Amino acid sequence: MKGVILAGGLGTRLHPLTRITNKHLLPIWDKPMIYYPIQCLVNAGIKDILVVTGGNNAGDFLKLLGNGEDFGLQRLNYAYQKGEGGIADALRLAEHFADGDSICVVLGDNIIENNIAHAVQAFEGQGGGARILLKEVHDPQRFGVAELAGERVLGIEEKPAQPKTNLAVIGIYMYDANVFDIVRTLKPSRRGELEITDVNNAYIQRGTMSCDVLQGWWTDAGTFESLLRASQLVHDGGANHLER
Ligand code: DAU
Repeated sequence: MKGVILAGGLGTRLHPLTRITNKHLLPIWDKPMIYYPIQCLVNAGIKDILVVTGGNNAGDFLKLLGNGEDFGLQRLNYAYQKGEGGIADALRLAEHFADGDSICVVLGDNIIENNIAHAVQAFEGQGGGARILLKEVHDPQRFGVAELAGERVLGIEEKPAQPKTNLAVIGIYMYDANVFDIVRTLKPSRRGELEITDVNNAYIQRGTMSCDVLQGWWTDAGTFESLLRASQLVHDGGANHLER
């Protein structure tokens, strides 16, 4: 299994912080944001990693990360997303890198406390399809929200005004090689983006989506509140997958 980190987008919700740099280069406590998703994959045993970035500061990722030496890697791969066409648009750029393998996709602004190795192993044992991770939150309208029947995912709504549950779909997704065919069928949403929720709903319709509930804390870091919260969580509790 290969790893893909999506770190494009303009981060407009964090203006003026992101006017002259990329959101994923901002600090979360004592490390740049992008360190956390990379370490998350490495700790799950995934060492073949692609970083998709974009905007005016893409070169800074190379300067910061190089060949991944800080993570014990010998090589990192990079791709450049033109514009801000959405998460699934950025994912499209990973097709050549994936080369028929399954992938674990991590959004560059998602930070978790624990190791996802169990979920990765479970996905590898399920024989294709997709797997998502869910977390109970108090503000589900900010996220993709899953509806379940027992352990089966019935559907996901992107940022619903009236969420049916408080189970957010976190930004860590596991997909088989069909994901790129699914992305090709997508149409831009009302906000003009190719949505990862549409990819996940396609797997649900095919009956090949599984899920786990994430243990330990999770946060995104794409708003001022969540950026602060992420630093506090890492400072207070540690992201136990990062050497500190
Ligand atoms: O954090 C989890 C949530 O992430 C999910 O629950 C939602 O279903 C999913 O749509 C997403 O919601 P956001 O609206 O918070 O996503 P955002 O636009 O902040 O993008 C998240 C990351 O995806 C961002 O840090 C970098 C990457 N991205 C985003 C866009 C729009 C790209 O690489 N390219 C893009 O064009």
